[in-house]
Amino acid sequence: MVPEQDVLTVSSIWARLEQYAQQHRHEHLADMFEADKERFQHFSQSDCGLLVDYSKQRLNTDILSLLVQLADERHLGHWIECLFSGQRVNCTEQRSAMHWRLREPSTTGASPEVHDQLDAMGAMVDRILTGQWRGSQGDVITDVVNVGVGGSELGPLMAAAALHSSMPATGKRPRLHFASSMDGSQISQILHDLDPRTTLVLVSSKSFTTIDTLHNANTARAWLARAFGGESEAMMRCHFIGISSNAARMTDWGIQPQNQLMFWEWTGGRYSLWSAIGMPIALTVGMDGFRDMLAGAHAMDEHFRTRRWAENIPVLLGLVDVWNINFLNITARAVLPYDGRLKHLPAYLEQLEMESNGKSVSRAGKPLEYNTCPVIWGEVGPNAQHAFFQLLHQGTLPVACEFLMTARRYTEQMHSASAKELEGQHRLSNANCLAQSRLLALGERALDPKVALPPYKRYRGNQPSTTLVLDELSPRTLGALLAMYEHKVFVQAVIWGINPFDQWGVEMGKLIATDMLDVLADPDSASGLDASSMALARHIAGSSL
Ligand code: F6P
Repeated sequence: MVPEQDVLTVSSIWARLEQYAQQHRHEHLADMFEADKERFQHFSQSDCGLLVDYSKQRLNTDILSLLVQLADERHLGHWIECLFSGQRVNCTEQRSAMHWRLREPSTTGASPEVHDQLDAMGAMVDRILTGQWRGSQGDVITDVVNVGVGGSELGPLMAAAALHSSMPATGKRPRLHFASSMDGSQISQILHDLDPRTTLVLVSSKSFTTIDTLHNANTARAWLARAFGGESEAMMRCHFIGISSNAARMTDWGIQPQNQLMFWEWTGGRYSLWSAIGMPIALTVGMDGFRDMLAGAHAMDEHFRTRRWAENIPVLLGLVDVWNINFLNITARAVLPYDGRLKHLPAYLEQLEMESNGKSVSRAGKPLEYNTCPVIWGEVGPNAQHAFFQLLHQGTLPVACEFLMTARRYTEQMHSASAKELEGQHRLSNANCLAQSRLLALGERALDPKVALPPYKRYRGNQPSTTLVLDELSPRTLGALLAMYEHKVFVQAVIWGINPFDQWGVEMGKLIATDMLDVLADPDSASGLDASSMALARHIAGSSL
């Protein structure tokens, strides 16, 4: 049975954390490092190919102990059991959330339907990668266009980019393209450069009703039909694969049954890259690589299920975020990968975290009296240093930062002509990552005290950060990292007493947009609109204001 959640702010532990925040609010990280020479040892954990250093977060062992007690008080252990036993933890949609089942090894004998779909996906991937899958004119497929949005794009896009250099040299893989935006800007640009004869379209949509995706898919379909002198059974068979939880809608749209890959209602869209939605990832690293990614995620699942909270990476990072958000009032977090292969990680986490925990009503339907998910954004770290690090160092707002880097890189290019230069660039990037997190934490306390600085050159420091170091960026470590984030989100949701698995906030906008289409078609017939919407609609429609 899913435990009921009492109201958080009456908790005695919550009150003690508030007292601690008041007492320690102005304590500086420089002093914390001075006071505890073992601070890194006390505030870091390693497992699954990840090193997580949260010693630059503004907390001490007493606060961490209270946060761990808070996790117990919020029945975190029971909630984890509910999650992994398939209980309906998604209370508003009465669904379970079993993305963890997608990466359980087949040896457990669990989820035969999951492994059937994985095998079906693998068969298609192998046919494409070996050139056996042919276009309707007999050509080998050279380009695959993934048409999908949100969780049907962000995970595959991010992981395919992250693992692009992981592909075994043997396979000649197709070029991947991603079209998501409903305005047609991406699909038009992509199709402009492609050859219809050698193009395969993946229509990825859990619901198969998302208008962004259906319009992009229709545009691709018309492009192919024009190229082939009209639509045909061969065109649909050779150039479209559908990936959805709704077979009937795929069939209605024209995806042939043998080209349909399924996943399930119990997989949330933003948790679905482990399913056939992850096909672009498999086309990048091969099915063995994709299975390695699943194995890495499964290893993190076991870590999350078995480690005590004080050694449990998703629990620790979830609690640290709660401390920053609810007690230090730091409501922004910057995700800063110092490895350009993770350039899409910030956008992926924006959906995973803000669509999961951007909630203001408890599971019991009560308005919350405390903050939940922060604003999350990010950029490749070295580039962000030329964009918004000024604000991080000398602005007025507290921002928590998350640095990511890889210890080993360019091992596969070690014999290339540019190996020495690339290794030097990797080292330079990591040096900048260390320098920035140090300066953000210690401020001018990291600089030569003998040098007097004018006000505009002062560095206040005390901006908290966590640094995650991947041994190397491989399918397995990426799988562990992403599962870690999924479970961190769940930990926060349990502490806050919210449901992380629904997203009602994105539904109404879609409905209003449909009404707005009618307004744009005939602004003068519109009624009941605010003056702004009315004037803008008229302006766009070219009618008089
Ligand atoms: O943003 C709302 C949302 O439902 C996401 O949760 C989902 O990932 C995305 O739209 C796409 O949905 P679908 O995969 O059903 O097309």
